[in-house]
Amino acid sequence: MSRAFESRANEATDFDVDLADLKEINLPFLDELDHPRAGNYRLPHTLEWAKRVEAADAIVWATPQYNGSFSAPLKNAIDFLSAEWVGKPLGLLSWGGKSGGLDAANALRPIAAVLQMPVIEPIVGYVNYFADLNDDGTLTPTAEWTEAAKRLLTSLEESVEKNAA
Ligand SMILES: Cc1cc2nc3c(=O)[nH]c(=O)nc-3n(C[C@H](O)[C@H](O)[C@H](O)COP(=O)(O)O)c2cc1C
Repeated sequence: MSRAFESRANEATDFDVDLADLKEINLPFLDELDHPRAGNYRLPHTLEWAKRVEAADAIVWATPQYNGSFSAPLKNAIDFLSAEWVGKPLGLLSWGGKSGGLDAANALRPIAAVLQMPVIEPIVGYVNYFADLNDDGTLTPTAEWTEAAKRLLTSLEESVEKNAA
């Protein structure tokens, strides 16, 4: 799903897209001593993660829906940092079974509020994601999803431009 969104972003926007694959990044459970708000990061994996998030003009949190909410690795990756998130326009990309991932995305809203990240609409969900997967695990998204993804990307671009003005 994230790769399909990355393709749309590369095709349809001027964003220099950095897909942060949490499986590849493989952060441990939060293991810094100080509160992230202190910005006193000591560990190499935190410093690297902070640099990556800091470099972004806009963020998209992407998550499957598990048991009515978002995935644990995403929350862990969010909690590592603080100032690097604050104020950045945030898109929400989610997928699931019959829920389409909507509950997962909505459960991220209070976290965005704490980090003062404006949630940019629309939320982009995907119903019965696994049913549309190709044999090689790639996704050929529906036209409806592609349209929603484009709308989110356009709104994110507008939001970044507004922030820069
Ligand atoms: C532990 C677990 C819990 C799930 N809970 C939900 C759920 O609450 N609502 C829903 O619509 N789908 C649920 N699903 C279905 C997943 O969202 C769906 O299989 C999705 O494709 C998983 O994405 P992934 O392949 O990236 O892990 C759940 C799947 C798993 C493995």
